[in-house]
Amino acid sequence: MERRRFGSLEVQVPVIGQGTWELEGGYGASAVAALRKGLDLGMTHVDTAEMYGSGAAEEIVAEAIAGRREQVFLVSKVLPGNASRRGTVRACEQSLSRLRTDHLDCYLLHWPGPHPLEDTVAGFEDLARGGKIRSWGVSNFDVADLEEVHRVRGAHGPVCNQVLYHLGERAIEHRVLPWCEKHGLAVVGYSPFGHGHFPSPRSRQGQVLQQIGDAHQATVRQVALAFLVRRPPLFTIPKASSAAHAADNAGAGALRLSGTELGRLEDTFALRASSDDLPML
Ligand SMILES: NC(=O)c1ccc[n+]([C@@H]2O[C@H](COP(=O)([O-])OP(=O)(O)OC[C@H]3O[C@@H](n4cnc5c(N)ncnc54)[C@H](OP(=O)(O)O)[C@@H]3O)[C@@H](O)[C@H]2O)c1
Repeated sequence: MERRRFGSLEVQVPVIGQGTWELEGGYGASAVAALRKGLDLGMTHVDTAEMYGSGAAEEIVAEAIAGRREQVFLVSKVLPGNASRRGTVRACEQSLSRLRTDHLDCYLLHWPGPHPLEDTVAGFEDLARGGKIRSWGVSNFDVADLEEVHRVRGAHGPVCNQVLYHLGERAIEHRVLPWCEKHGLAVVGYSPFGHGHFPSPRSRQGQVLQQIGDAHQATVRQVALAFLVRRPPLFTIPKASSAAHAADNAGAGALRLSGTELGRLEDTFALRASSDDLPML
């Protein structure tokens, strides 16, 4: 599993991590087993949020990481409506309680919301001073939002921006990814399989993925993930609710695509014309 620096942090984080949205949806023990399998195979970046299942996903994560917290780069998110200075602190404390841990490695604002960014950042700083978070970041921030957070960044500043990024939705490549590269933020791509909308094996796109996979004894999902983390500062966080899917995804962490293969994927999954809108799920 390839690891790389996460924004300005010294810590090395695996390029393929694990998402947890809808993991709570009736899978129970299988979801815990999937996360544990992923951890065993190096996918130690675990992404969750107070929003997911209204805290149920965090409780599943708690079970999966029990006894191995120190291996995990644990990320959760505050809902924008809760992200006043005191609300951010309170929401984090509730997440920590559900996660059965005393700190997060990174805490994100889930998307820009009604509270002044200064207040949310002040809450993050309070949490950092109290040892409850090691770093903070943002999610679904376009360039205008990033410029604003850069202006009010507090003592440490955001270390990442988590954004929608999959083969069929490469809009971040226009402006958000270059901005983050320039300012040293990790870019964590979410919904790498399009939240369930992955190219069918019979489509032209599916066949290109298959042909590239065949050349490496890799699966089509591994090819997609390898493309999405093809250069720093990219990371990705697929969600899997079975151990078999988790193992498949972890296999992408050692797959290197050639320049020719990357070019073929860029052509097959064309980048649409630029827009100022940052799509989100
Ligand atoms: N910051 C934000 O606003 C935001 C928004 C959306 C998502 N996220 C984060 O990003 C994570 C990932 O995105 P997502 O959950 O939307 O969807 P996703 O990872 O794009 O897709 C998940 C779907 O792919 C399937 N899958 C996973 N691995 C597979 C494999 N190897 N082979 C076949 N199918 C596979 C899953 O099936 P099974 O479940 O059956 O394994 C599930 O149906 C979320 O869980 C969440 O942590 C963040």
